[in-house]
Amino acid sequence: MNELVVIPGPNAVPIANSVALLSGAALSNVHRRVFPDGEIYVRLEHSYLNKPHGALVTSTMYPNQASSFLETLLLIDASKRHGASEVIALIPYIAFSRQDKVFLSGEPVSIEVILKGLHLSGASYLITVDMHNPKSLTAFPGRSTNVVVSDLLVRESLKYVDNPVVLAPDIGALERASFAARKHGLDFDYLIKTRDKVSGEVTYEPREVDLSGRNVVIVDDIISTGGTIAESTKVCLSRGALSVIVVATHSLFIGGARGKIINAGVKKIITTNTVPVAKDEVVEVIDISERLIEAVRELTEK
Ligand code: R5P
Repeated sequence: MNELVVIPGPNAVPIANSVALLSGAALSNVHRRVFPDGEIYVRLEHSYLNKPHGALVTSTMYPNQASSFLETLLLIDASKRHGASEVIALIPYIAFSRQDKVFLSGEPVSIEVILKGLHLSGASYLITVDMHNPKSLTAFPGRSTNVVVSDLLVRESLKYVDNPVVLAPDIGALERASFAARKHGLDFDYLIKTRDKVSGEVTYEPREVDLSGRNVVIVDDIISTGGTIAESTKVCLSRGALSVIVVATHSLFIGGARGKIINAGVKKIITTNTVPVAKDEVVEVIDISERLIEAVRELTEK
């Protein structure tokens, strides 16, 4: 691929800066305006415009999921029109990923719309992090990579606890939890979670895993309202766990999610910078830029 230019998109200026700095790639200016009627305008400015280059359009789809998606499409289109031979969409957090199938008659498969839209606007490569359901990526017609970072998160948790049990809050999260646990030689298991498709009410049936006297590290992809983690934590503590640490890739922390999780008994939340998140005495944020750069290199060198 030609010289790579990083295009900083919605919610992703810090990640774009870090990727450009660590990889030595050029960094574009993006002029952005919102017209009085709410429409978004973008214009790229960099020294490779209208000369051959590869564009790394970097954005992340939280907050403002819908407008972030649209702005990402506009940046991809602008890149394609002005010299980019290839566009890589680097989107650490892809919104709408949880609507990955038709749960109730009449629904769309939202994630397929997102992935097809990225490709239609000109992205031939896609890199994301810890996709809710990695199989969804098959809907992207170009090449794609799902960067798994649960091993980094669990490694960080080992600074606080010895030999924990790694626990997925549901079977959907088992693969990322077991990947991290195996990598660090730890026990792992999962809780059986059932969500009512209409009311959204969630119930848990604990598995026959002996948590008594054990430290637990719960691994999940997304913290949204914090309900899943709070309820999973209560299940662990009621079954005799000594302590619970939570590691999650994308921390949206909607409303009082952080407080809900802490009140349930969680001592530490370790997360990443895939979406903007503030660190404090409980929340630790690890930078995954190096992993993203590795993924860009692997994808472009193939
Ligand atoms: C669900 O399948 C996801 O993996 C997360 O567990 C869920 O989205 C978290 O949402 P909340 O924090 O609102 O419970």
